[in-house]
Order: sequence, then C-alpha cells, then structure tokens
Amino acid sequence: MSDAARVLDRFYALPGGDAAGGVVGPKRDDAPPVLRSAEPMKILLAEDEVTIVVTLRDALEEAGHEVLHAPDTKSAHALLEQHDPDVVLSDIRMPGEGGMSVLARSVALDPSRPVILMTGYGTIDQAVEAMRMGAANYVQKPFRNESIVQMVATLGRVKSLERENAELRESLRAHTAFKGFVGSSEAMRGVFNRIRTVAPTDATVLIEGESGSGKECVARALHAASPRADKPFVAISCAALPETLLEAELFGYEKGAFTDARKEKRGRFELADGGTIFLDDIDDMPLAMQVKLLRVLQERKFERLGGEGTRSLNIRVVAATKVSLRELVKQGKFREDLFYRINVVPIGLPPLRERAGDVPLLVQHMIERHGGGKKYVVAAPAMNVLERYPWPGNVRELENSVQRAIALSGAASELALEDLVPLDPRWRGATAVSDEVRPLREVMKEFERSHVLRALEKTGGHRSQTAAMLGISRKVLWEKMRDFGMLEGKEGEPNGDEG
Ligand SMILES: Nc1ncnc2c1ncn2[C@@H]1O[C@H](COP(=O)(O)OP(=O)(O)OP(=O)(O)O)[C@@H](O)[C@H]1O
Ligand SMILES: [Mg+2]
Repeated sequence: MSDAARVLDRFYALPGGDAAGGVVGPKRDDAPPVLRSAEPMKILLAEDEVTIVVTLRDALEEAGHEVLHAPDTKSAHALLEQHDPDVVLSDIRMPGEGGMSVLARSVALDPSRPVILMTGYGTIDQAVEAMRMGAANYVQKPFRNESIVQMVATLGRVKSLERENAELRESLRAHTAFKGFVGSSEAMRGVFNRIRTVAPTDATVLIEGESGSGKECVARALHAASPRADKPFVAISCAALPETLLEAELFGYEKGAFTDARKEKRGRFELADGGTIFLDDIDDMPLAMQVKLLRVLQERKFERLGGEGTRSLNIRVVAATKVSLRELVKQGKFREDLFYRINVVPIGLPPLRERAGDVPLLVQHMIERHGGGKKYVVAAPAMNVLERYPWPGNVRELENSVQRAIALSGAASELALEDLVPLDPRWRGATAVSDEVRPLREVMKEFERSHVLRALEKTGGHRSQTAAMLGISRKVLWEKMRDFGMLEGKEGEPNGDEG
C-alpha cells in the first residue's frame, strides 16, 4: 500500500462513503460551498453513467481539478498512459474489462498513484479484492459528490506533503554532504556548484588535484549528495597494491581461484554495488589492469577471479588523479579509451597556494576539528604569512600544521607561527614575523594590503561591493589598489571599469 493510500485509509476508515443519505445528481442549493483544493490534481474519471460523469466532473472542476473522462476501459487505459494522472476514479462495471483492469494498469504504471473505485450493489466483493490489489479506497453508489471532492483534497494534501518531504530530504542531504568541506574562494565555490550539479546524476567524475588538495573530500561529497547516499561508498587506492593483488581486490575471487584462496571473497566493485566506487590514484593503475577496468566501465559487468558467472553492477564511478591523465595518455602510460570513459565530468581542485583566500577559513575549521572544544586564535600577521606560504602538501599540510601548533600551544590560546610553518627564510624573508620589531606603519600596510586582497577575492573583484564591504568609498579603494600595485596596465580613472 502506498503512503498516500495508508493516510487516506486512516481518514476513511469506513469504506463506502456515505451511501445512506447520498444522492447522485445536480448540486442542491443547500449544498455546502465547494472549497477550491490547495493542490490541483489531474484526475482520470473512468465512468460510463452520464449523470455521474456530468455532476462529478462539475464538482471536481469547481474545486480546481482537471478532469479527464474515459467512458470505457480501453480509453481509460489510453488516458492513463498518455496523461499520467495524479488520481484515478473508476467505476467497477464499465464497458470493456472494467474497473479492476483500470486499477491493475494504473498500479503497473505507477504503484504510488491512488485509485478510488466506485461500486454499485453486487460489486462489494470486488471492491474488497480491489483494496487488496492496491486501490486506495472505494465508494459505494449512490454517493454525495462532496465526499469524493473531499477524498481528492486529502490525497492532494498527502501529495504536497510527500513532495515537501522529498524536497526537505534533498536539501538536508545537500547540506550535510558539504559538512566539514569548506572554502570561500571563487575556485572552491565553483567546485561546490559542480558537485551539486552532478551529484544527482550517475555520470562518471574525474577529480584532478595535487596531493592533499581535497580529492577524497570531493568524492565523498559527491556520494553524500547523490541519491546513492545510503548505499556504500567504497574507496580503493590503485597505487597501494601490486598488480596481482589489485585485480583480486577489485573483482574478488572464488574459493580455490589461487593457492591462498581458501574462501571466496567479494571485490570492491561488488561491495560498492548500488553505491559509489572511488578509484583513487587512477594515474597509478598498471596498463594491464586498465584493460580490465575499461570493460567494467563499458559493460558494468565483471567476473570474480576463478569464477565462471558474469555479474552485473549498478555503480557510480568517481576517480581521482594527481597528475594530468591527458599527459599520461601522450606518454603511452594511460589508455586513451579508458581516459575518455573516465573523463566524463572533470572537477579540478586548484592547489591551496592558488586559493590563499581559503586559508583563514580552513585554519578556523581545522581548529574546530582538532581543538577539542577549546578556542584558539592565529594573530593577523601570522595569518598573513600562512596565506602566503606555498603549502606544497596543500590542505593536508595545513591541517597537520594546525594540529601540531595546537599540541605545542600548552596553556596559550594563540597558535605560534613557528609551530605552524617551517622556519624557512626563503619565503618568510621580508615578511611580518621575526624577532625584529618593525615600524607599525609598515606592518599595518602589509596587513591592509592582504585585507583588501581578501575582500576583492570575496566579491570576485567587484569594486563597488568590495568598497562597501570595507566601509570605504570606491575612490579610496582605487587609491589603495594603486598604492599596493594592484592595478593593471594604465588603468587610472577612479570611476573606470567595474572589476
Ligand atoms: N576544503 C576542505 N575543507 C576541509 N577539509 C579539507 C578540505 N580539503 C581537504 N581537507 C582535509 O585535508 C585532508 C586531505 O584531504 P583529501 O584526503 O581529500 O586530499 P587528497 O587530494 O585526496 O589527497 P591525496 O592525493 O594525498 O590522497 C583531509 O583530512 C581532508 O579532510
Ligand atoms: Mg586521497
């Protein structure tokens, strides 16, 4: 029984409507005013008795619904297929096979669509059988049109609740999918949007990014925001295993497939069935395995090692690479056909040094993740250095740094720069922090510059918005940008182009 039918069942615990005092015919003057239904429905009315059709159709249309009329079984079937109505109202006795066949067809096409059967005397047994077959309810003739209008209104409410529910579930899923995955830079906003767009599909995704840039975060978010979220997410690192083990790991094996195979074992593909498989470090996959992978991706079929039977798979494939696969194809290290199979939707993660605007947010996030509930701060000049440090190990390196600095902080709540980044004069050189106390003006100017840069990045370079954000006029912003050497070419007019 569908949810709608179950709810309806509660509303109409007693089948038969109000047969006792009911009349079929034109609406009486003292009839209650018909309220327009909040949820207009498309209703298939399968009925051959003209008086019922005319009056019921009027009542339903007056309540705001659309009525499609079928005078016999055959045309009811046709309307079901062509118009996909929201509700079916069908007489049991009708020219042709009758209402039971309309019910069966409707259930076959869409089991969640409510069907209400109208019965005359002598067809009650059939009505009971109809409930068993999945009908939402039945009414006994003669009935009052209002009771049907009310039933339809209830179904409408259920339908809109179900829709609302689905929407809430969807937005909750999208929301939680990005939990713990942060970024405010233009680049990361682009990545988040990409994920939101492709997550609901089954498209294969290739994530490209340096080590530690967050590729696995992307893969997990894709899965968590997808309709497969409550099915398995199975990751396998193609770099971690030698070729022979990789094959067994991916496809599994039967008992006795090789000397050590004492028991059968399911492979990662099999474990991921219904969900997402994450092929990490696909750039490290040996050529011989690439052929086998190609077949699975093409046919969604595979065999266990030493097994006879071919198994079918329903999986979403996400792969990650730290080097350009296109380059590997050129070098003959990666199969071109496999490359095209995998590179369906590419998602590129820029290295952290190219999105320094994310650093303060990431530091904040890592403090929350590893601070054990204690609040730590990073002073502005130190943050300034963190934003300029090139982070060769990307977000992972930044995360480790914050963890280390927290561990070394003792009772202090301010994290020390020397615990956060290596003491390398090459890039630290002329900048903010050393034992030397530099003129306040100089330090302030450095801070101001990085602050203006950050604001510009937040607005995507939009000058009016940046000025408003910083609480200064566009002219002052322009002057600062000029002084900081941020203006390109011979741009000179304060009222010139918007960024
Ligand atoms: N945008 C982000 N927000 C929060 N945490 C992040 C973000 N990007 C990466 N991290 C964290 O940084 C660490 C490394 O990320 P992840 O494992 O996803 O990187 P990777 O690209 O898969 O690295 P590798 O190539 O080494 O496998 C993880 O702890 C992850 O939680
Ligand atoms: Mg990884």
